[in-house]
Amino acid sequence: MGMDNKHTLAVIIGSVREGRFGPVVASWVADQARAHGGFDVNVVDLAQMEIPLALPAASPKFAGENYPRPAGMAALTSALDGADAFVVVTPEYNHSYPASLKAAVDWHFNQWAAKPVAFVSYGGAAGGRHAVLHLENVFAELHAVTIRDGLAFPNYYTAWQDGRPLDPEAPGYAKALLDQLAWWAGALRSAREIAPYPA
Ligand SMILES: Cc1cc2nc3c(=O)[nH]c(=O)nc-3n(C[C@H](O)[C@H](O)[C@H](O)COP(=O)(O)O)c2cc1C
Repeated sequence: MGMDNKHTLAVIIGSVREGRFGPVVASWVADQARAHGGFDVNVVDLAQMEIPLALPAASPKFAGENYPRPAGMAALTSALDGADAFVVVTPEYNHSYPASLKAAVDWHFNQWAAKPVAFVSYGGAAGGRHAVLHLENVFAELHAVTIRDGLAFPNYYTAWQDGRPLDPEAPGYAKALLDQLAWWAGALRSAREIAPYPA
């Protein structure tokens, strides 16, 4: 939590593809979160981070603070460490989420535990639905709490204009997601302060 009593929110851009659409979605989500008023918002762009596919021998689950991450990953790790809540912005690649996102997830463990994660997805006809279903399974393994209300943007190439969705209901759906995320961020932060989570 920041000095102003707001929850620290990391909005993660999951795609790193050349010409990607992800930053447009993340920027709109970040604006919605700032307008919501409950969050200090930090956009975390995986394309700016060093995220090798080859992991160290040990699991981050057991290595704790001493996990040997590359220097170029430090900004990512510290953003995840400092976050009270996450919004993962993900496209759908072959009925799942991008490898860049899985790699970023797998290099960390405690950073996710006992924290809430919401999803905003986009893609073709399915709007990222398969990607989000897979991510919900992954984050359960990491002891994170996934937020029920998500946003999905099917056929985003016709559904967005000038950096925002054309659907006039979209800001209302975003507010529902952010209200739920803020509630869980507060509840879980209080609980983490009372007793360390036994992950
Ligand atoms: C390798 C690849 C596989 C894709 N597979 C799917 C898919 O299974 N379902 C879907 O709705 N869209 C699919 N798409 C379309 C993407 O969702 C769309 O290109 C989106 O812009 C990708 O996000 P990005 O621009 O942030 O990389 C795929 C795109 C790529 C590059």
